[in-house]
Amino acid sequence: MGISSLRINGQRLQTTLEDMAKIGATPGGGVQRLALSNEDKQARDLFVQWLQDLGLEVTKDEMGNIFGKRRGKLDNLPPVVSGSHLDSQPKGGRFDGALGVLGALEALRTLNENDIDTIRPIIVVNWTNEEGTRFAPDMMGSGVWTGALDKDWVYQRTDINGIPVIEELERIGYRGKTSATKWPIHIYYEYHIEQGPILERNNKLIGIPRGIVSLLWFDIYIEGEANQVGPTPMEGRHDALCAAAEMILKVDQLPRKRGGNLVATVGAIHNYPNSRNIIPDKVHFTVDIRSWDDLHALNAWNNLKREFKVIAERRGCSIHIEETSRVEHAQFDQRLVQLVSDTAQTLAYSSHSMVSGAGHDASYINQIASTAMIFVPSIGGRSHVEVENTSWMDCEAGANVLLHCILKSANETG
Ligand code: GLV
Ligand code: MN
Ligand code: MN
Repeated sequence: MGISSLRINGQRLQTTLEDMAKIGATPGGGVQRLALSNEDKQARDLFVQWLQDLGLEVTKDEMGNIFGKRRGKLDNLPPVVSGSHLDSQPKGGRFDGALGVLGALEALRTLNENDIDTIRPIIVVNWTNEEGTRFAPDMMGSGVWTGALDKDWVYQRTDINGIPVIEELERIGYRGKTSATKWPIHIYYEYHIEQGPILERNNKLIGIPRGIVSLLWFDIYIEGEANQVGPTPMEGRHDALCAAAEMILKVDQLPRKRGGNLVATVGAIHNYPNSRNIIPDKVHFTVDIRSWDDLHALNAWNNLKREFKVIAERRGCSIHIEETSRVEHAQFDQRLVQLVSDTAQTLAYSSHSMVSGAGHDASYINQIASTAMIFVPSIGGRSHVEVENTSWMDCEAGANVLLHCILKSANETG
């Protein structure tokens, strides 16, 4: 059989994804595998087992990133690396992240069973805490590994219960000994669901991202004054929740006001003491701003920040703002993007050029190595929800594109 007719095993990929989706399965058909939770540990254990079953050399680094290496004929050449993440959102979907990790695993299973050797080694990777929902920021594992984030700072980041990353890494047994420091990568591919409606709307099978938008994350802490709700007159109150409410609407209005390519969201809020008959004195909420245009996003934020301060002052509250994450937009290597597009065409799959509005570890890896992504359609454009879905046929098609991209890159000598 010629290499060009090589195809992944769609049924095996489906079974593997279904087996993984049992870990942290939610009643609504999704998964909950928060980073470094017991479910994340179980998912990692299963993944490591699968890597070992394939005879790969498994490494866990001090950030808990897991690498499975398949040797190359010239094993010292920089490898082709592919993967994504196994952690999920609370009540997240079965495909976000898992498809990229297990799609790469399936590509290696296909190479193994067909006795196909490549010149370069190939590495499958599971990056730690891509989602950033339990511990912020997101893309922690790849961020530290590439040098964009400081390991000791990241280790001390805490969840809502005050538990630091380092403790949870230790507890689940994934604080490896190997340094979480970058080494040369020849090419990085990340296979992922689109998480938006564009492919479905355009009736296209393979999405070819030119890059990923910039991501700005902020944590806003407002402090007012608590009091009994009944006897305290409305005048003169310092209600932290009302201040937050005004600010949140400003976030929602920001994209319409500023125009251009911009989305802005408040996704998490904590109100204290959260009792119906106490005026709230502390509120913490998050702000997420994304744009292809880094400067546009930054200017919009600066404008928003000024509005926040005016609101806080008018309501007699103090405000503290933490910049939790700033990731510049990633523009992928155009030659590699073209290679993905050509590969889809050779396989007779329709494709569509686009930009990723979702964040991915590929953003950080793109800062140190030639990177590209492969998208497949999200049914109804839904993601980060339990009903997140992609047809098995589409999962198979995307994995075939990944397989052939990996093969081409892994046989390059230069
Ligand atoms: C990651 O899933 C993100 O886009 O926030
Ligand atoms: Mn993802
Ligand atoms: Mn996600």
